[in-house]
Amino acid sequence: MAQELGGIFERKILQHRLIVVSGADLVREVNDEEKWAKFLGQPLRKLRVIAGDGLFTAFNSEPNWRKAHNILGPGFSQAAMRSYHDSMLTVIDQLLHSWDVAAEGGRYVDVSQSMTSLTFDVIGRCGFSHDFDSFNRTEPDPFIEAMSRALEYVNRSSNDIPILRALFGRAAREQHARDIALMQETVDRIVDERMRSGDTPTDLLDLMMHTADPDTGEQLSRESIRNQVLTFLVAGNETTAATLGFAIHFLSRYPEVVARARAEIAEVVGADAEINYEQVAKLRYVRRVVDETLRLWPAAPGYFRKVRGETTLGGRTLPPGSWVFVLLPQLHRDPLWGDDPDRFDPDRFESEAVRRRPAHIFKPWGTGIRACIGRQFALHEAVLTLASLIRRYDFAPDPDYELDVHEAITLKPRGLTVKLSRT
Ligand code: HEM
Repeated sequence: MAQELGGIFERKILQHRLIVVSGADLVREVNDEEKWAKFLGQPLRKLRVIAGDGLFTAFNSEPNWRKAHNILGPGFSQAAMRSYHDSMLTVIDQLLHSWDVAAEGGRYVDVSQSMTSLTFDVIGRCGFSHDFDSFNRTEPDPFIEAMSRALEYVNRSSNDIPILRALFGRAAREQHARDIALMQETVDRIVDERMRSGDTPTDLLDLMMHTADPDTGEQLSRESIRNQVLTFLVAGNETTAATLGFAIHFLSRYPEVVARARAEIAEVVGADAEINYEQVAKLRYVRRVVDETLRLWPAAPGYFRKVRGETTLGGRTLPPGSWVFVLLPQLHRDPLWGDDPDRFDPDRFESEAVRRRPAHIFKPWGTGIRACIGRQFALHEAVLTLASLIRRYDFAPDPDYELDVHEAITLKPRGLTVKLSRT
């Protein structure tokens, strides 16, 4: 629709009005933090049933947002990333082991399932020193199943028209309630275990339990801790898993990109050595693969912004209370990206090309003070995982597969499989 209707258009569904913005100049305007702020659109409001006033779903005015933002900031510093590196490697080793078995048997691997197991175990270990042990399960973790269903429900019930609501009537509502209860019980178990053990490992949960907000001297309440842990389990898992999935899809289609990345990894890391923390930042080409993946298929497909007072957009006056949705897949295909914005080309992220382009046309992490707190975490995890996979396997696509992008709050590749062969 954005390609047909242009950089700004309005959709009306019964009484609901939705203004969708994707033109580069207009997005620059709505990213102005003086005049605009994050808005909790319908899907985010519905997520509050799950994560309450956790970081992602808090209203700007809620005191728990600032408190949690201050307390958890150090959990995403460079020093913290360094401390997560080995845990990430441990989980990646489990992924490699399971993919080695598939490669030997000549089997296709279910990419989305593997990436979900990986990112879930990584956030479990790094965030909460908890091992979900996903690679040793024959069935998906009940938390993952409940989370996927809950996100699907929130997505569908946010976009529906009331008349159609009967489609997912009482049974779905009851299932949704059970899913939320299961997710909350899982989190309570993790927090209880920690309280009983009295351990103080360096992780996000430790920060939540033992650090005071430097501004107010207050600590997070037990309820707020539950909301934050749930937020990280969902936000830290879905988006990174989807990004890795899309990246592997592109790698299976562009062997020349795999070859260039492999040469870089050999140069930076050597043939067999383990990838260390410092080397991840030097894998510039692998990082470009991640950026280009986030450009074409940003796992979080957009964000909502609302005006702080009366303001203008594209020269037209908007009254107080107005809000818009920024549509990233189209912003990321704006003519400013060149003639063939649909083509996958990691060289778009060479430093010179990045310098020539305005920064506001690439916004996969959102914008302003409410932008993604987990960005460095996700990037470290994604580059480390892709580098580990690229040096070990060639990826062959299923010749019958066409990319099927599924939306359930996040965008993810559905039904994606690849065949692996050891290099
Ligand atoms: C490729 C992976 C990721 C993408 C594309 C992504 C994208 C985003 C976007 C677009 C927002 C802003 C949403 C808005 O304005 O409404 C956001 C916020 C957030 N993300 Fe991420 N994210 C990713 C990974 C992560 C990870 C790994 C974590 C945690 C470990 C995380 C935690 C959060 C949190 C807590 C917020 C809310 C921040 C606040 O409002 O203060 N994200 N993310």
